[in-house]
Amino acid sequence: MDFPTWMAAIQARTESALERFLPLATTAPHRLHHAMRYATLGGGKRIRPLLCHAAGEIFAGDATRLDVPACAVELVHAYSLAHDDLPCMDNDVLRRGKPTCHVEYDEATALLVGDALQTLAFQILAENGGTPEMIALLAQASGSRGMAGGQAIDLAAVGKALTVEELEFMHIHKTGALIRAAVLLGAHVGAADDKTLFALSHFAGRIGLLFQVVDDILDAEASTATLGKTAGKDAAQNKPTYVSLLGLADAKHMAVDLRRDAKAALAPLGVRARRLIELTDYIVDRKF
Ligand code: IPE
Ligand code: IPE
Ligand code: MG
Ligand code: MG
Ligand code: MG
Repeated sequence: MDFPTWMAAIQARTESALERFLPLATTAPHRLHHAMRYATLGGGKRIRPLLCHAAGEIFAGDATRLDVPACAVELVHAYSLAHDDLPCMDNDVLRRGKPTCHVEYDEATALLVGDALQTLAFQILAENGGTPEMIALLAQASGSRGMAGGQAIDLAAVGKALTVEELEFMHIHKTGALIRAAVLLGAHVGAADDKTLFALSHFAGRIGLLFQVVDDILDAEASTATLGKTAGKDAAQNKPTYVSLLGLADAKHMAVDLRRDAKAALAPLGVRARRLIELTDYIVDRKF
């Protein structure tokens, strides 16, 4: 199967699994359930589910079982976006080509959407064979020592000049943590040996950082229409990014280096790492 066909198949199965896991909009409280579905379904690249399936496939992980952690990470991600866009955070009006959750509904609803998507993520893991290790992994990646912690640093850093080390710490947490969790959760579904897990963990760290570096480059270079979210926001809001710290050219060099490092980390896996290598290229070469 070629990469675009594989990717479309995982995206489609993720969409239908999310559809099943989310409460129906016809169930009370209707408005909240409607908004949860609005924030999750019908958009997004599904990068985290793709990474989760790609890692799981290496160990012949069953696709139906992989849908569970893939959707759990995507639910936490969708929650993080609903909150990231709130006026008290990035104050954004456009997400995945649609009005942001608080614009379409209201701020209180967007806050509750995040709360409810996050807890749903852990519920589906707990009810569908997620082990205590998997639940702890996602919790750590989502909380103050992961994504939420990274978001706190992001907000505190507005208008400040961070060092390269501080910026890397922020990116590794706000974005890298969930990306890393997606890879490792997939590996947990398949029976990964310690040596492979070590290689995957190193890969996952690099790809997580790389993902946010590319997000920062796209924010500076791409158009709002292509991105489906407001372009140029980082500069407008004085966010420290690799682009603001190093300039566009050096940020791109950094992406080149990270792509090389990520692929090098996969070397011990040989041809089994094919999908992860293809996803690494997709993450760097993507247009949105
Ligand atoms: C955007 O993530 C937010 C970041 C963590 C940089 P994605 O680029 O994966 O967003 P979607 O899910 O495809 O909309
Ligand atoms: C957000 O980073 C990371 C999250 C944890 C959601 P950004 O603020 O750069 O994400 P976008 O650019 O709004 O998607
Ligand atoms: Mg943000
Ligand atoms: Mg944002
Ligand atoms: Mg961004």
